[in-house]
Amino acid sequence: MQKAGMSGFLHLLYVSAQLSGWEFLTGNKTMCGIVAYVGHQEACPIVIKGLKRLEYRGYDSAGIALMNGEGLKVFKKKGKVAALESELAGRELHATIGMGHTRWATHGEPNDVNAHPHYSFHRKLAIIHNGIIENYAAIKQALLKKGHTFQSETDTEVLGQFIEDIWENNGGTLEEAVRLALQEVVGAYAIVIMNEAEPTQLIAARKGSPLVIGVGENEYFFASDATPIVEYTNDVIYLNDHEIAVVKNGELTVVTLNNDTTTPYVQKVELELAAIEKGGFDHFMLKEIFEQPRSIADSMRGRVNAADAMVQLGGLRDYMDKLAKSKRIVIVGCGTSWHAGLVAEYIFEDLARIPVEVEYASEFRYRNPIIKEGDIVIAISQSGETADTLAAIELAKSKGATIFGVCNVVGSSIARATHAGAYTHAGPEIGVASTKAFTAQVTVLTLMALAAAKRKGTIADSLFRQLLAEMESIPAKVERVLQAADKIKEIAYIFTYARNFIYLGRGLNFPVALEGALKLKEISYIHAEGYPAAEMKHGPIALIDEDMPVVVIATNDSSYEKVVSNIQEVKARKGRVIAITTEGDTNLPGMVDFTIEIPKVHEILMPLISVIPLQLLAYDIAVMRGRNVDQPRNLAKSVTVE
Ligand code: AGP
Ligand code: GLU
Repeated sequence: MQKAGMSGFLHLLYVSAQLSGWEFLTGNKTMCGIVAYVGHQEACPIVIKGLKRLEYRGYDSAGIALMNGEGLKVFKKKGKVAALESELAGRELHATIGMGHTRWATHGEPNDVNAHPHYSFHRKLAIIHNGIIENYAAIKQALLKKGHTFQSETDTEVLGQFIEDIWENNGGTLEEAVRLALQEVVGAYAIVIMNEAEPTQLIAARKGSPLVIGVGENEYFFASDATPIVEYTNDVIYLNDHEIAVVKNGELTVVTLNNDTTTPYVQKVELELAAIEKGGFDHFMLKEIFEQPRSIADSMRGRVNAADAMVQLGGLRDYMDKLAKSKRIVIVGCGTSWHAGLVAEYIFEDLARIPVEVEYASEFRYRNPIIKEGDIVIAISQSGETADTLAAIELAKSKGATIFGVCNVVGSSIARATHAGAYTHAGPEIGVASTKAFTAQVTVLTLMALAAAKRKGTIADSLFRQLLAEMESIPAKVERVLQAADKIKEIAYIFTYARNFIYLGRGLNFPVALEGALKLKEISYIHAEGYPAAEMKHGPIALIDEDMPVVVIATNDSSYEKVVSNIQEVKARKGRVIAITTEGDTNLPGMVDFTIEIPKVHEILMPLISVIPLQLLAYDIAVMRGRNVDQPRNLAKSVTVE
């Protein structure tokens, strides 16, 4: 349907597009870094220093644009900001206006060409961007038909060319062209644009990705958050969604996409630098635990349409038949990723009726495993760089398996080593202990299993629709659990000095018990074991006494009565029980020592909810023990050694 008054070219933009190869997901908002400056100081050092302030956000490449008498110059490099600095060394870079970017790739590998800033087609402007332009493929097709060519694979370059094309063809100002273009864009963005026609002008806009404006004395700063700004000024404006900020000849104006002028609200930044980096949280791990409603939503974005009973995993589109026909799935991963694989095993077997084996990558790679023609291997890895998982992939590939990847880092070694896959797009996970990556992995794997079951016809339409609808409710339910954080902290306080913990669960909550135990172990250094609840009577129950806290995931599902019996076995031996229960459970509070309630959700989706209190419990205990929660001793975020 064409909007009234829209040029023929623009109406094309309502075509959404899936990408072949790894599907690039939409919407993740915690993208990387933007810094821009215009004023009376040298721009280059301010921008570079600002990009370094944003390094905590994680990124894969960096670039800068500077404007001076010689025109608009762009320098950009794959790797760290230091690599960009080396590129700039020895150059005459006097400029009082500039902008810089650290990229977290979503469209196109991390490399020099895909790094930002991007010139427009006729190089009249340069653009930097955080976020994802969901309908970029349709825009690109339309521009290609007009004879445009592209240097990079990014959605950002497409946006820059789109803006320039409107500027050239519709006439009017560049600000007007930006406004018209953004009216047609679907997705999340924070952008800054420089242009040669107006060398003192910065244009910025945002929707879904943060952008802060620092107001100085005859100078303005733009950044993804306040960390690059606070050393120059505490006066900031948090740009709102659908707003466009224009600085020209030292004057700032802010308009909406509907061209209504707004009066920006200037406020004082109170947070310390370190606090700003962590979004006001004490640790990255806590920030990432609280990001899960959004990271789970972003892992589903563009893939789930409950109303139309649709699951679409663009990156696996060409492999769905192979997945549905496979006789066996082997899942390989390490640590938390291995736990996500165990969850997937239950779901794939239950819904898609495909036999699944879950293997520690490190074990799989050394035991000469049997891989048959038609086997699918799913490799799960947050970092995409885990050596054991990479080796397991190469071994499986050499034996003829088809390899799917579930990774959080675009262009990572594991992503590139697989035949296809789906990115989780949880955003950079800085805390060494994995939290939002786990729930994002489970989300993507659940969608894979649903898509396979639907393709095979092994799932009733009613259950398929119910699960999709419930998946869409997960972010809000996770939010509800997070609201119990204070209660969980009180419980954690009581057990801060416990010397051991046991975590118990049945069915899909058994992998969650393992994950809860791993979280506690790796950040508090307390020994903790996850166990199938029914296994207690086969030995571990000998460990139970009044000094052994036992966390039991006792949600109201098919194994509830049996788990209650296991709790009674523990209580009979004076064990102290923390039960994760379903909201409204009146049976367990009188039986156990502590309860943490979580919302009701279909059993198959329970891991996405039941893991949250366990993440918080581990975090709180570790903090109370004075541990380095974000970088625990002996651990690395990505284990690239064997
Ligand atoms: C999880 O909290 C740990 N940091 C660790 O077990 C991690 O899950 C494991 O090293 C696998 O990492 P990957 O997902 O990046 O491959
Ligand atoms: N989608 C853009 C790209 O892939 C921007 C990614 C980011 O936010 O850093 O280049």
